[in-house]
Amino acid sequence: MRTKIAVAKGDGIGPEIMDAVLRIFEADNVPLEYDFVEMGKSYFDAGHSTGMTDLAKETIENLGLLFKGPMETPKGKGVKSINVTARKVWNTYANQRDFRTLNGVDTVFSRAGVNINLTIVRENIEDTYGGIEHMLTNDVAVGRRLISRSGSAQVITYAFEMAKRKGYTKVACGHKANIMKLTDGIFLEAFYEIAKNYQEINAADIIVDDLCMKLVSRPETFEVVVLPNLQGDIVSDLCAGLIGGLGFAPSANIGDYISIFEAVHGTAPDIAGRNIANPTALLLSGVAMLRYLGLTENAATIENALLYTLEQGVHTGDFGDKTIPASNTTNFADAIIQNLGKKPEKGGAVSQGNFEKTTRTGEKPPQNKITETAPGISEEIMGADIFVETMFQPKQLADLAQSKLNEKFKLIMISNRGTQIWPTGSIFTELTNQSRLRFEKNEGQEINAKDIFDLAAHLSEVINICSVEFLKKFGGKLGYSLAQGQ
Ligand code: NAI
Repeated sequence: MRTKIAVAKGDGIGPEIMDAVLRIFEADNVPLEYDFVEMGKSYFDAGHSTGMTDLAKETIENLGLLFKGPMETPKGKGVKSINVTARKVWNTYANQRDFRTLNGVDTVFSRAGVNINLTIVRENIEDTYGGIEHMLTNDVAVGRRLISRSGSAQVITYAFEMAKRKGYTKVACGHKANIMKLTDGIFLEAFYEIAKNYQEINAADIIVDDLCMKLVSRPETFEVVVLPNLQGDIVSDLCAGLIGGLGFAPSANIGDYISIFEAVHGTAPDIAGRNIANPTALLLSGVAMLRYLGLTENAATIENALLYTLEQGVHTGDFGDKTIPASNTTNFADAIIQNLGKKPEKGGAVSQGNFEKTTRTGEKPPQNKITETAPGISEEIMGADIFVETMFQPKQLADLAQSKLNEKFKLIMISNRGTQIWPTGSIFTELTNQSRLRFEKNEGQEINAKDIFDLAAHLSEVINICSVEFLKKFGGKLGYSLAQGQ
C-alpha cells in the first residue's frame, strides 16, 4: 500500500535538492506516491495571491501532508511569505527541529568531543508572526503580539508528548516573561499547568537570553526546549549553527490535520541551478516525515546511509574537509544511495523506533474550531489607554486631557515609549511625538465600552488620537501591564 502525499519542489535550489531526496527514497523503495502541486514564486507572479493554485490547496487539504522545498517570497508588493502563510492557515502549530551531532560535519563542538542531541519545539502560529503592525504616528510603529492560552497549550502539550515518546527526561520552556508579563506570562503559565500531567519529565523554565548563553556554552545539557514563535525562530537558527549550519537543519510543522515537512534554509538564490546545493536538511526532513508516516524501517535505513556517507568524508561544497574534493548534489545523493544498508561506524546508528507523531486522522473538521478556555469568566472595564500624537510637554498634555474629563474618569499617568513621564518623570527622558494617556474609572463609577469611546471622542476635539485600548480585569485579575515607573 503506497501512501499519497503532496510534494512542492519549491524555488531556487528547491527542485535540485527535492529531486535528490526523491531519488534516494526511490532507491530504498519507500512506499510513497507523490502528487506534485503548483506552489511557489512563479504562481505568485502568475497572479495567485496565496502563491498556490486552488487545486494545490485542495490537494494538500485532502492529503494532509506536504513535503516542500524552499519557496521565495516576492519582495515588496505587500505579499506575505507563502511558507509562513501555509503554516498558519493549516494550523501546523508545532515546529519541531531536531539538532544532533553528525560525524563528518566539523564544528567547534565536534572537535571538542561534545555530543549535541536536542530538539527545539517552536510555537508556529502566533506571536509577532501575526504581522499586525501599524504606524501610530509617522515616527512610531507598533506591533501586536498575540499569544493565546489555547495556542500555547497545544504546542506545549505536543512538546511533552514528543519528549515522552522519545524517552527524554527534561523539557525546558524558554521565555521572556520577566519583561512580557502577560504574553510570555500566558505561555509560561500554560507550560507549568501542562507539566503537571508529565510527572516523569523534569520541567524547568529559562529566560531566553540565559538560554542562548547556555546553549552555546553547554549545549549537551539540553534535550527538549519549547518556545514562543519569534524566540523559537531565533534560538533554532542558533542551534543549527551548533551542529554545522542551516544545511543540516530539518523542520517538521505538525498540526492535527495537516503537517508540512521542509528544510529550515531558504532558496539559496546565489547557488541555484548549479547542482551544488546540500540536500541533507531536506533529506533529514524527509526522514522525519517517513517516521511520522510510520515508515520507520525506510527512515532508519536512509538516515544510517546518510550518517555513513558523511562519516566517509563525502560532502558538498558548503561543509566538510576541504582537502577532499566536494561532490555536487547529484553525486552526493548517489553516494547515499550506494550506502543504503550501511550503518555509521563511529556510532550514532539509528534504530527503527517510531519516535514521531503518527496520529494522522485524515479527517476534515466540519467547521472552524473555536476555543475558549474559561467561558463566562467575569470581565470588568477599568479604563482605557488612549494613544495620542503630540508635541506637548507632559504637564501641558496632562492639563489638556484633564480639561476634557467628566466625573467618570481620572487621568492616572502618561507614558512615552512605555516610560512614565507624568505625574512623575525625569527631564532626561527623551520623548517621541507619540504618548499614551492612561485613564481609570473614578471610585464608585460603573463604565462601559460606550463611555470609553465618548471619552476618546471628547479628547479628539483637542488632541490627535492614534489608538484606543481597553483596560480590563478578567476574573478579578488585572489584564494589562503597568508602565515603567508606575
Ligand atoms: P537561504 O537559506 O536561502 O541562504 C542563506 C545562505 O545559505 C546562502 O549563502 C545559501 O547559498 C546558503 N545555503 C542555504 N541552503 C543551502 C544548501 N542546502 N546548501 C548549500 N548552501 C545553502 O536564505 P536567504 O538568502 O535569506 O533567503 C533566500 C530566499 O529563501 C528568500 O526569498 C526567502 O524568503 C526564502 N526562504 C524560504 C524559506 C522556506 O521556504 N522555508 C526559509 C527561509 C528563506
